Amino acid sequence: MRLTHTKILTSVSLPFSRFGTHDTLNFLQESFAIMKKEMKRPPIRLGILGGGQLGRMSALAAANLGIKTTIYAPEENSPAFDVTQNHIIADYGDKKALKKFAESVDVVSYEFENIPLETVRYLEKFTQVLPRPALLEVSQHRLKEKQFLNDLGIPTARWAAIMEPQDMNEFHTDHKLYESILKTVRFGYDGKGQARLSKTDDCKRIWKKFKQDIMIAEEVIDFKHEISVIIARDIFGKTAIYDPSRNIHTDHILDVSIVPSGLSEAVLKKARNYTQKIADAVDLVGVLAVEFFVTKDDKVLANEIAPRTHNSGHWTIDACTVSQFENHVRCVCGLPVGSAKRHSNAIMKNLIGDAIYSTDQYLNSRDFVVHNYGKSDAKPGRKMGHVTQIFPLSPLSPKLKSR
Ligand SMILES: Nc1ncnc2c1ncn2[C@@H]1O[C@H](COP(=O)(O)OP(=O)(O)O)[C@@H](O)[C@H]1O
Ligand SMILES: [Mg+2]
Repeated sequence: MRLTHTKILTSVSLPFSRFGTHDTLNFLQESFAIMKKEMKRPPIRLGILGGGQLGRMSALAAANLGIKTTIYAPEENSPAFDVTQNHIIADYGDKKALKKFAESVDVVSYEFENIPLETVRYLEKFTQVLPRPALLEVSQHRLKEKQFLNDLGIPTARWAAIMEPQDMNEFHTDHKLYESILKTVRFGYDGKGQARLSKTDDCKRIWKKFKQDIMIAEEVIDFKHEISVIIARDIFGKTAIYDPSRNIHTDHILDVSIVPSGLSEAVLKKARNYTQKIADAVDLVGVLAVEFFVTKDDKVLANEIAPRTHNSGHWTIDACTVSQFENHVRCVCGLPVGSAKRHSNAIMKNLIGDAIYSTDQYLNSRDFVVHNYGKSDAKPGRKMGHVTQIFPLSPLSPKLKSR
C-alpha cells in the first residue's frame, strides 16, 4: 500500500501539526519568558552531544566566549575531546551518564541530527536542549521532513512513501517519471542509504536489498546547482542569515563550497526566505542549515534540513564577522546572535581521507587557512579537515598594509 500525503499525516505521528496553534504559541512564549530569566551570562556551561569536527569547532568558538564545554560521545579519541577540558565517554542510551552530563551543564546542544530522540527527551528532564527536539525529530525522518516543508509552502522534489515494490512502479507511472531516487527515511548521510532506479529496474530486487519497512522515493531533479543557507536565531527571535553557498559534491560527499555563489539575487532571495520561514515556524534557537536544488529555470527546491552547524558553512569561520559555530553557541546559550556579515569571498575545500597528508601546499600559501580535525585514521571518505581560501573584499588601507 502506498501512502498519499494525507494518509501519511495520520499514519506517521507527525509533530508539526502542533506548530503555530494557539496553545503551542502560548506554551513557547511562557517557556521563553522563563528561559530568558534563567539564562546565565558567561561563564556558561555548555554540553554538546557528539564529539566530531562540528562539536570540536563549536567548543573552540565557545572557549572564545568564555563558555566551558563538556562533550558527550561514545567514541574514545573523539576529535572534540582535544579542545575541551571535560568529556564523558558513554553510550547515548546510558541514563546514568546522561543524567550526570545534564546536571553538569546549563544547556545541551548536539552536533549531528541522528542523536536518538529518546536520549534528547531524557536529557530534557534535567536541562534545556536546543535546538528544540521537535525539529530534530522532523530532520531525522525524510518523510516527515518533506511533508513539513510542503506544509510550509516550501517546494521540494515530488515524493512518495514507499511501503512495497509496487509503490515504486506507481510513483513512476503517476508522475510520468523515467527515473527516481529511493532513500531510507532515517540515518542517511553523504549519499548513504540511497539508490537511483529507472522505470525498467527490478523494484522487488532493490526493495529486498534495503530491508526497510518504509522508504521515500523522490523524482530526480536535474539541478543546475546545489546551494545551502545557514541561519542562526537567538532566544529573542533575532536572526542572522549567512550568504548562500554553492556546493559541489564528489562521490556524494561535499567537496567544495563557494561564496558568493554566483547565482541571481532572485534565486538567493527565495532560498533565504524559505530558510527564514522554517526558522520562524519552529521558533528555532541555534543554527539551522537548509540544502536546496536550483533548477535550470531557477526553481528553488528544498532538499534537506539540519538543525545544527553544517559542513557547507565552515567558510564562515574565516570569512565572516561571527562564524556559524560561534552563532550556534551564542544562540543556545541565550546570548544575542552575532553578525553573519561576510568580509571576504571564500572557497572551502574538504580534506577527505589521504588529502590530509598534503596540506603543505596550503600551509605555504598566504591565501589559505588550514583546519585539521586531529583524527588519526585517514580512511577513504572520512572528513579529516578543510581549507578555506580567502579573498578579502576590500584591500587593507595602505597605512595598515605597510605595518
Ligand atoms: N531528488 C534528487 N534529485 C537529484 N539529486 C539528488 C536528489 N536527492 C539527492 N540527490 C543528490 O544526492 C546528494 C545526497 O542526497 P541527500 O538527500 O542530501 O542525502 P544525504 O546528504 O543525507 O546523504 C544530494 O546532495 C544530491 O547531490
Ligand atoms: Mg544532503
